[in-house]
Amino acid sequence: MAHPRLYSGMQPSSGSLHLGNYIGALQQWRRLQEDHDAFFSIVDLHAITVPQSPQVLREQVRTLAAQYIAGGIDPDRSCLYVQSHVAAHAQLAWLLSTITGFGEASRMTQFKDKTAKGGQEAASVGLFTYPILMAADILLYDAEIVPVGDDQKQHVELTRDLGERFNKRFGATFTIPKPRILADGARIYDLQIPQSKMSKSADNDKGVIWLLDEPAKTAKKIRSAVTDTDGAIRADRAEKPGVTNLLDIMSAVTGTSVADLEAHFDGQGYGVFKTEVADAVVAELAPVRERTLELLADPAELDRLLAVNADRARAVADATLTRALEAMGLR
Ligand code: AMP
Ligand code: TRP
Repeated sequence: MAHPRLYSGMQPSSGSLHLGNYIGALQQWRRLQEDHDAFFSIVDLHAITVPQSPQVLREQVRTLAAQYIAGGIDPDRSCLYVQSHVAAHAQLAWLLSTITGFGEASRMTQFKDKTAKGGQEAASVGLFTYPILMAADILLYDAEIVPVGDDQKQHVELTRDLGERFNKRFGATFTIPKPRILADGARIYDLQIPQSKMSKSADNDKGVIWLLDEPAKTAKKIRSAVTDTDGAIRADRAEKPGVTNLLDIMSAVTGTSVADLEAHFDGQGYGVFKTEVADAVVAELAPVRERTLELLADPAELDRLLAVNADRARAVADATLTRALEAMGLR
């Protein structure tokens, strides 16, 4: 039997992934590609909904591609490609925008969050229609499963609504996808403010582990992570967020359960604990970092891989777009 189709993507909006992206997205995707027909995109058209420098964007697309591959996404098995290389994304997004209600789009909480600081006047229309482009990404590939963090759940719900509406109005065209929301232990928190998610836009760099940080820097950040004064090494998200985060991190990178780690560290102090967590994270990330740097040293080969995969993606996406155009009376 064919494997179920899976689709996910990440924005090329920083110079390096952080440990949250690695554990919450890349590690999960690496596993899922084993028994899914997976498409992973670098969503550069989403990235330009906020201002980007062309030079920096070009570099960040390659850097993200290299990190995907170094992190275990196999570009021969999974289709790893750049969204803007496949014109059908923008085309289907337009078709879908004509069946999206203005009020419906206005209810997307990410737009509200992203414009909370600068105000809606300063935001682009592209930022407003961002979720419609995401719906096009997913529907073009007949994806059944969309692994995302819970902040993206509303966008996958919109995708389902738009797909169902289109099918009802114009006849069966799209597969209706299901979100697959990240498990709790896969959510990683800031090392300095363990109540907040680790994020690329953190104010304090000490709270964020970057995949491309030097190993010594990574170890130092973990050794200076905020804990508490109670001294016990056990998971308790409400009372001991810092220690719990470090346990989740160690569990994710070693594959040992949190319960086994609690037993292992029973009676130990935070110094020993943090040193072991740091060693485990460095052991996991250092090879990924090195492989990323190797891949980046040969940009022509990376570009070739992305071009081959864009061809694979285009073949699937163009067929779906044609179905949609025909259904709407545009062919
Ligand atoms: P972002 O960095 O917000 O563009 O997110 C890219 C991907 O990484 C999404 O699939 C997120 O769900 C995931 N992600 C981002 N931050 C974290 C985090 N702190 N913990 C776990 N997963 C995360
Ligand atoms: N909006 C998603 C994010 O910020 C990225 C994304 C774009 C995506 N298109 C997608 C995720 C399609 C899953 C499926 O994380």
